Amino acid sequence: MKTFEDVFGGAPEVTASAPGRVNLLGEHTDYQGGFVLPTAIPQRATVGIGRNGTGQHVLYSANLEKTLRVPVGEVGEDFAPYLTGCLNLSGVTEGLNVHVTSEVPSGGLSSSAALEVATLRALREVYGLELDDVALALKGVQVEHEFVGVQCGVMDQLASSLADTRTMLLIDTRGLERRVVPFPTGAEILVMDSGVPRRLAESGYNERRAQVEEAARLLGVKQLRDVTDIATVEALPSPLRERARHVVSENARVLEGLQADAAQFGQLMNATHASLRDDYAVSHPLVDELVALLQAQPDVFGARITGAGFGGAVVALVREGTAAAVGEAVLADYGTLGKVVVP
Ligand code: GLA
Repeated sequence: MKTFEDVFGGAPEVTASAPGRVNLLGEHTDYQGGFVLPTAIPQRATVGIGRNGTGQHVLYSANLEKTLRVPVGEVGEDFAPYLTGCLNLSGVTEGLNVHVTSEVPSGGLSSSAALEVATLRALREVYGLELDDVALALKGVQVEHEFVGVQCGVMDQLASSLADTRTMLLIDTRGLERRVVPFPTGAEILVMDSGVPRRLAESGYNERRAQVEEAARLLGVKQLRDVTDIATVEALPSPLRERARHVVSENARVLEGLQADAAQFGQLMNATHASLRDDYAVSHPLVDELVALLQAQPDVFGARITGAGFGGAVVALVREGTAAAVGEAVLADYGTLGKVVVP
């Protein structure tokens, strides 16, 4: 892969990186004021930045082997908005050379949040911006809303900015209170890529968001976080009933997970998968197959689709020391489409 020096003929002023994340419990709750429980993954996005003294940004993606040129202050296309969104929201008024490389697979592991957080970290350093790690993450969310066009919640950028790979990070997405939570004793995580490309993920995502906002309105609550009795969702028309049932039950699963041992935590993950598949309708038949193969393994406590869904990654909680072997065993049955991501 071409380095910054290969592309631009000199060293970057600053290089920064940020990890992808995998979410263990609390899916599609973060735009309804709910709870999420992600952890960082070892794979990172890395961004190098240098000033180029011109009126345009030169953006190079080493993964795509592609260069985009975007006049300062404009947005551009393709992968440009993830970067120019960060530059424009940081008030950059001069041309920058930007080199991007990422190990984070696309599809459920927050490759875009990792890119935004890495870019914002680099900009913070180049320009000495006064931005703490929470404010930086929220700027990344703003990039998604205003430049990329995804009405995402706050989980991914907060996880990329604040989480580490050794613990889970409980986030109350309403007030942004956070608590570090240890993994259940005797367990570790396995992340696999289903190889199913995410289709219509953005439109499907925005549609789900609109549906749960409508459900909250009909129930007379500010957000589904405020529903105290899950039975009340049964009065909603379908599919708002199913969508709301997922969000309300999922919030309860996160809180239960905080006290759970590995076996109980795994059961909660299995229940999350069923809820995302049946009520939230964001899974895919091949992903269901991969999850079922994982759930059938003796060393697996639980498994589920992770992230926005519509394809992409799955996560399993497995007996400590078995993740690599479980991943291999499952791949033998699942076939060439899949890949082990962690470990
Ligand atoms: C995407 C969004 C997050 C969150 C998840 C689903 O990753 O960016 O804000 O809503 O989907 O839990």
